Amino acid sequence: MKLWNKGYEPDKLIEEFTVGQDRELDLRLARYDAEGSMAHIRMLATIGLITDEELPVLLKELEEIRQMAIRGEFVIEDGIEDVHSQVEVMLTRKLGDMGKKIHSGRSRNDQVLVDLKLLMRDELRSIAEAVVRLFDRLQSLSEEHKAVLMPGYTHNQIAMPSSFGLWFGAYAESLIDDMEMLVAAYRIADQNPLGSAAGYGSSFPLNREMTTELLGFRTLHYNVVAAQMSRGKTEKAVSTAIAAVAATLGRFSMDICQFMCQNFGFIKFPDEFTTGSSIMPHKKNPDVFEIMRGKCNRLQAVPNELALLTANLPLGYNRDLQLMKDIIFPAMTEIVGCLNMADFMLGHIQVNRNILDDPKYDYLFTVEDVNRLAFSGVPFREAYKKIGFQVQNGTYQPTRTVDHSHVGSIGNLANSLIRKKMMATAVQIGINVEKNFAKKSENCL
Ligand code: ARG
Repeated sequence: MKLWNKGYEPDKLIEEFTVGQDRELDLRLARYDAEGSMAHIRMLATIGLITDEELPVLLKELEEIRQMAIRGEFVIEDGIEDVHSQVEVMLTRKLGDMGKKIHSGRSRNDQVLVDLKLLMRDELRSIAEAVVRLFDRLQSLSEEHKAVLMPGYTHNQIAMPSSFGLWFGAYAESLIDDMEMLVAAYRIADQNPLGSAAGYGSSFPLNREMTTELLGFRTLHYNVVAAQMSRGKTEKAVSTAIAAVAATLGRFSMDICQFMCQNFGFIKFPDEFTTGSSIMPHKKNPDVFEIMRGKCNRLQAVPNELALLTANLPLGYNRDLQLMKDIIFPAMTEIVGCLNMADFMLGHIQVNRNILDDPKYDYLFTVEDVNRLAFSGVPFREAYKKIGFQVQNGTYQPTRTVDHSHVGSIGNLANSLIRKKMMATAVQIGINVEKNFAKKSENCL
């Protein structure tokens, strides 16, 4: 059955091709569809399109549908196109003509838009919460291992001393930049498109400010054409933020794979967290982080895929936009899965506390020794030459002490300042700072 039934049934093949994955993907929109409809009919009641008697009856029914969706029991029946049609069919079955009234002053075009905005807002918050959990984990590890040195590299060659405190702490701070992107995407999603109807507004005197407030949007897309244009644009912003998180996590996964390699031997995981080979009995492979690296690399392709899908679309609604869901929905799930898995794995990481005992890392300390000479009054270039000649003729003996004290260095990680920066960003996406940060701040920093 179609909402747009005009006395003929469309060809089955046409229906299958155009509905695509909607029956499955739209299940994720069901609860938001009910919420959007509730706000819409409250507003319709104020302009006389729904009576005071009808409103509570419709609201009660929509709340039941919403609860059903939250419990995961909402289904889109065979022959019903999408979530919007299913909700209207359910209302009409139960309430007759009353159910048929709710679509006044809207179209599925603004209905799906508002559903998507509400969904993306929630998903962005979930991603941000997972980012904060990983941030917390990395900061705790940074503090726990701040005294453990490791080699730092430039050009993939041994360079200067680094530490596990720096390494874990670096990824924690890097996640704040990604959080900024999530906040930007959230602000773009957090605007009400409802009332734009098919994309050109309505001749009903809709109160769009009222639905904005009811749905808790920070503002509305005022211009109805701009509201319709936000379909696709919002998904692109969300995917760009996801790609930013994925880039950080993908890079971290690469570090882990590298550092687990026997040639490095910097970190380990318990055997149960590694995978074996069907032929080489000794293998304990880092498959988790290889899969994570691969997934995160794929996620970075999503903004490009969405950009191509929407490239050169004419103004107004076009059905191509439906396919955005096929791409962005799995991406939103995937990034949370990767973040949670990284957090889980890091709960079991073991660090090698004696890496620098190996003489192959002696040259890490040359700069320390040059600086020590310079501090004692030798001009820097002279000190550099002196140590350089010692290295060249094989007489260099490292002093093996590291005195970095400036902010952000091995001896002064500034983790609590980094934490403050994260809190100030995360609060903008509605993260409960007290709940997510307070306990950990006292315990670990
Ligand atoms: N499934 C559609 C989508 O996601 C719903 C909107 C349909 N609108 C239309 N004019 N056919 O875009």
